[in-house]
Amino acid sequence: MSSIKIQKICCIGAGYVGGPTMSVIADKCPDLEVRVVDINNERIAAWNNSDLNKLPIFEPGLDRIISRTRGRNLFFSTEMEKSISDADMIFISVNTPTKTKGLGAGQASDLSWVEASARQVAEYAKGHTIVIEKSTLPVRTAQAIKEILKTTNRGNKKDEISKTFSVLSNPEFLAEGTAIHDLEKPDRVLIGGEDPEAVDALVKIYLNWVPSKQIICTNLWSSELSKLAANAFLAQRISSINSISAFCEATGADVQEVAKAIGTDKRIGNQFLSAGPGFGGSCFKKDILNLVYLSGYFGLPEVANYWNQVVVLNTWQQDRIYKIVLEKLFGTVNGKNIAILGFSFKANTNDTRESPAIRICSDLLEEGAILSIYDPKVSFKRIAEDFEKLSFNNQGIWKMANSIPDALKNVDAVLILTAWDEFFGLDWNYLASLMRSPTWVFDTRSVVDRKEIENTDINLWKLGEGN
Ligand code: NAD
Ligand code: UGA
Repeated sequence: MSSIKIQKICCIGAGYVGGPTMSVIADKCPDLEVRVVDINNERIAAWNNSDLNKLPIFEPGLDRIISRTRGRNLFFSTEMEKSISDADMIFISVNTPTKTKGLGAGQASDLSWVEASARQVAEYAKGHTIVIEKSTLPVRTAQAIKEILKTTNRGNKKDEISKTFSVLSNPEFLAEGTAIHDLEKPDRVLIGGEDPEAVDALVKIYLNWVPSKQIICTNLWSSELSKLAANAFLAQRISSINSISAFCEATGADVQEVAKAIGTDKRIGNQFLSAGPGFGGSCFKKDILNLVYLSGYFGLPEVANYWNQVVVLNTWQQDRIYKIVLEKLFGTVNGKNIAILGFSFKANTNDTRESPAIRICSDLLEEGAILSIYDPKVSFKRIAEDFEKLSFNNQGIWKMANSIPDALKNVDAVLILTAWDEFFGLDWNYLASLMRSPTWVFDTRSVVDRKEIENTDINLWKLGEGN
């Protein structure tokens, strides 16, 4: 076991990963002091808000953990220098979006924030520090981090001479909406590294709540690549079932029945087989594109083409849905009222990054539709920012609705894009009375049971259901 004693942890980045991950570590390890730092003042202020409904991210169970750890051994601040210099172990959990310009634009990950974090660590750290990649990173990034950290000893200040670092990879596999469950009961924890003492120090922390057989230790590069590969495999399953959904619609098969039939084969498994409007979220697309870029970089164009197709299919699925809405509404949505139920990329999160709703809604707005959008957790501000980033030719109008009935008043159609619990088992008899006839319900998440609308004049289109 490691002789390194960890007392203070710092996490750079208070986002969807840094916040929940450190909250759970603080909860499970009351003897550790955990400091989460961020350059975003507004975000840190929200993490420190006494009203737990105003935390910067919505994640079931997070408020409960924050209420018992914050101020005890969990602290959120913008105090970079002190938090880093006091820490024995530093997690880098900053954003790694796709590059928008320069070499590899549109595919490679932008490592600016990771590099900036490594430089801050190089500058402020004291003594021996274990630096951990928590962000999802291209294979061999640890090498770049090591190089940056090495530069620190070039200075001639007295205390800088004694700085040493060990770099580990410890990718995060949590999914939004179930983050607390995933962190408390992970399928596995993955740790890549070359320094056995540092690896042991991190293993020891996880052993506070994760059984040892679920802690996998590998070399650095396997750990970095496994994270990209895991996301690519998961996304590939969604594109696979979505491709079958279109097949079902064309042939009279039912994608739910097909998913059940194939998922009972243990070798295939029954999870991640829900057809839908395409995968969203900040990571699947970015991580596959990164894999595509790296495949090209390492001279593997066939591998690059193979994985790129997963993203191509995903975009096609989103376009397909918008075109079906258009076609069913007699080829035009100009001036027509459409309710959008759900804007987040999946249920139980307020995150809209890469949400299929952004593309589908903006396509409808380009056609002149009037949208009333209802989502239980996504704010007007966030949707406005999402549309602004796209800079499309908006010919329509959109507004937020306060409730499902408010959204459905006088609409010609309802488009369900997220499977929030409250969208299941709705009283469609009542809701149909609020809408204009002929009324369409487009259900991309299989939340409406055909029986629920049989006594109404609603026309129901369900993704992946042929007739
Ligand atoms: P995020 O954008 O929510 O949070 C990143 C935070 O880092 C931001 O608040 C930003 O202000 C901060 N930051 C950036 N540079 C900084 C610096 N130099 N110093 C201090 N703070 C800085 O991102 P996220 O969703 O938490 O993702 C973080 C990483 O984890 C990404 O690499 C992502 O691929 C990976 N990941 C995300 C998820 C997920 O579900 N969101 C799951 C697994 C892995
Ligand atoms: C995903 C992975 O599941 C996590 O393991 C990983 O840590 C994370 O990415 C990451 O690296 O960011 P997340 O994106 O939060 O987590 O959520 P998922 O549950 O994977 O859903 C992603 C998208 O796929 C959502 O839009 C969801 O609606 C869609 N999806 C998921 C389907 O369309 N069908 C399914 O069967 C499952």
